[in-house]
Amino acid sequence: MARKKILVTGGAGFIGGNFVQYMVNKYPQYDIYNLDLLTYAGDLTKHRNFEQKKNYHFIKVDIADRGKIMSVFKKEKFDYITHFAAESHVDRSITDPEIFVRTNVLGTQVLLDAAKQINIEKFVHVSTDEVYGELDFDPTTFFTEETPLQPNSPYSASKAASDLLVRAYHETYGLPVNITRCSNNYGPFHFPEKLIPLTISRVLNEEMVPVYGDGKNIRDWLHVIDHCAAIDLVLHKGIHGEVYNVGGHNERTNLEVVKTIINTLGKSEELIKFVADRLGHDKRYAIDPSKLENLGWKPTYSFETGIAQTINWYLDNKWWWEQIISGEYKEYFDKQYSLKAKVN
Ligand code: NAD
Ligand code: DAU
Repeated sequence: MARKKILVTGGAGFIGGNFVQYMVNKYPQYDIYNLDLLTYAGDLTKHRNFEQKKNYHFIKVDIADRGKIMSVFKKEKFDYITHFAAESHVDRSITDPEIFVRTNVLGTQVLLDAAKQINIEKFVHVSTDEVYGELDFDPTTFFTEETPLQPNSPYSASKAASDLLVRAYHETYGLPVNITRCSNNYGPFHFPEKLIPLTISRVLNEEMVPVYGDGKNIRDWLHVIDHCAAIDLVLHKGIHGEVYNVGGHNERTNLEVVKTIINTLGKSEELIKFVADRLGHDKRYAIDPSKLENLGWKPTYSFETGIAQTINWYLDNKWWWEQIISGEYKEYFDKQYSLKAKVN
């Protein structure tokens, strides 16, 4: 079998990083190229055991730098592209939207142009359920692939814009694309600005855990490895031009999630501090994954088994997250959450 070259953008981040490791292990016959700018959210220490692997390669480039991206594509003829690189945190998009447009919209367009110039077999654009906006609390309603796009935050608006560009490059130029729209991920190497790793790291340090508003907003949680398996399946079996929703029916309120972590770690619920709500805070996300299930996907983790595995991972891998929370992250946290305390 011919060796395939797979470009993974954002492979130093949370989901892209897990995907790189999943693919390097699963497909020794593929060459995996991790292309990443190494922003605050990207780090290579997570791949310290992979650097020696023959089928792993790293390229440091900004996806929005057209000249550099074109040079990379001139040198390497990729067969597949899985595009994860993005600014991904909703709160940061509320305070600084511009970088979200540059990276998520312009960066995606540059990659599409580069992909158009070579004969790729597939471009998988990793998107999010947030492009659909929010659902109300009626538990019988779900996002399907036909739900209209109604993004509410600058982050989700930039992702929706990139989805539309990907669709347009398929319709106009016949680029073989898929778009995946996944619900909230959690698991190893999740950057501690997001709810689950922020809660685990703060509870372990006996620090207060900020819960926005009344804590009743609902997210649909999926273990990152189940997301990686979904993308692998879509990469190889997805029908060109199709969108696939990814989610495992694990709806929880934020308060339930935080309490589960506190109770698993045997700490006091008094650590919970209700703070000012997120602006434009989406009420509920919930995915109908039947289209992807029909393609052959099913998740391996329930929320209970996944959160237990994740908490254990953070207990066993303090070396990874302690280096993060002691750096520039501390400044971010103080600024972000002192603002919230003031609004309260
Ligand atoms: P992340 O923030 O952990 O990682 C993003 C990565 O992209 C980092 O390594 C960063 O260095 C890199 N990056 C940022 N700007 C770049 C640029 N200009 N050029 C090259 N690299 C750049 O994000 P994540 O949570 O792993 O999300 C990955 C993708 O999955 C995103 O596209 C996101 O929209 C999507 N997604 C995330 C979730 C979730 O729950 N985290 C759910 C569904 C979809
Ligand atoms: O649904 C998929 C999306 O999930 C991805 O597209 C995003 O990249 C990813 O960041 C995530 O977005 P959320 O905004 O849902 O995730 P976050 O972890 O930031 O917040 C989860 C919920 O917890 C949300 O309702 C806000 C709340 N929250 C978050 C933080 C950081 C708190 O109550 N306190 C907090 O400190």
